[in-house]
Amino acid sequence: MSEVLTRIETQQGRRLTPMETFDITAARETGLSRLLMVYITTGLIFMLFPGTFLGVWNLLAISSRRAPGSVSVAWVQAHGHAQIFGWIGTFILGIGFYSIPKLRRLNWFALSAAWASWALWTSGVLLRWLTGVNQWQWRLWLPISAVLELIAFLIFFKSVSGHRPEDAGKKAPDAWVFVVIAGSVGLMLTLLVNLGAAVFLAFRGASPELPPDFDQRFLVLETWGSLVPFVWGFSAKWLPVFLGLRPVRGRLLLAAVACNTGGVIAALAGWMIAAVFLLAGGMITAIYALRLLEWPERSAKVKGVHASFPVFVRSAYVWAIIAAGLGIWAAMASSPQGIWGASRHALTVGFLAMMVFGVGQRVLPAFAGMRLLFSTRLMFAAMLLLSAGCLLRVSSEILAYQEFLRSAWAWLPVSAITEMTAVTFFAVNLLVTFARRRHVE
Ligand code: HEM
Repeated sequence: MSEVLTRIETQQGRRLTPMETFDITAARETGLSRLLMVYITTGLIFMLFPGTFLGVWNLLAISSRRAPGSVSVAWVQAHGHAQIFGWIGTFILGIGFYSIPKLRRLNWFALSAAWASWALWTSGVLLRWLTGVNQWQWRLWLPISAVLELIAFLIFFKSVSGHRPEDAGKKAPDAWVFVVIAGSVGLMLTLLVNLGAAVFLAFRGASPELPPDFDQRFLVLETWGSLVPFVWGFSAKWLPVFLGLRPVRGRLLLAAVACNTGGVIAALAGWMIAAVFLLAGGMITAIYALRLLEWPERSAKVKGVHASFPVFVRSAYVWAIIAAGLGIWAAMASSPQGIWGASRHALTVGFLAMMVFGVGQRVLPAFAGMRLLFSTRLMFAAMLLLSAGCLLRVSSEILAYQEFLRSAWAWLPVSAITEMTAVTFFAVNLLVTFARRRHVE
């Protein structure tokens, strides 16, 4: 705080009154909250329209034709890109920028870098989606979209890596910092591979679709290699407080990251059986390190959120184990399309989306200028519907796609509508929270 005041005084060339200092820091905080709200709102828009609605459309087409391969591969990939990069990626960048103290120290250059990164990232992801769906001049737009995404991320990476914690030098950073760095490196590699693939397709490909074998490996990199470590890192930072857990086993969490990284490398090399066992081992180790399933030390902090919050957060990790287990089954099976799809869905919806629903609604209202979540009941409804939709989708995808039970084709549209309702409730709850007046104690 004293550093903030000194900088303010130096910039103004005279000593400010306490009132002036208060006004400037309040304006700064408001600017930062506005930045965060724009990032989160952008992520929600990607989640709803290019992401979920296209996913539902694809699934309705698949179930009416009773054939998984009957929809455009480019549309499926456009849906996946919008969800992973447009929704979760935009949330990560927004929360990352918001958390950098440099942005609180009247550094206008750092704040404008955050806005530039938003503009480039949003244009890149939107262009990528339009190129996948429309395919107009795709040889030109596909690499351009990948370049825009990469530059946006490099701006973010530079801003975040220049940041030193307040107590740097006094003690080694906590394990969660290294885990988040691992997630950031994973995201950078994902964007580099994405750019390489886009350039390759532009010169040598017949369409903007990634070939299935490459796409399978690339999906492991973008989910297990990047988003999973991010979620572990944020879990290690926030869940001990929110759920009253015992202190994280830091070294073990880093061992989990190492095991997970081994799994991602094995998948990229095409050694799928080794990969799925390493990924499962990493997830089990992370759960043990985070002490999620141990008796908590203190009661959970559920003020401002629904009391069921700790149960749903734990259920997300159960979905992650299910995803890893289905991955093992798929790697061993002879014709595993439905099992891979179910595993991917258990990870993306059951684990990643559920964590974003739970932790997002817990922290984002406060980050957006000390607001209160609009409705804890809507939060509960969103998480319950997401769980129900995910259970229905994962089970029916295996039963229908693998031809175990014909009637399961009819459950798929129900699962799609249930999940779409869940994400709509989540988006409405956050958007109304942002639109309402700030909460003053
Ligand atoms: C309403 C919810 C959703 C529906 C109806 C839906 C539907 C689909 C469908 C039909 C596919 C094609 C493959 C298959 O049949 O399994 C798919 C693939 C995929 N989905 Fe979703 N999805 C939803 C939510 C999500 C979410 C929340 C994420 C990520 C956070 C996600 C990420 C992906 C990814 C990465 C792929 C693979 C894309 C590729 O093959 O490159 N989906 N989804």
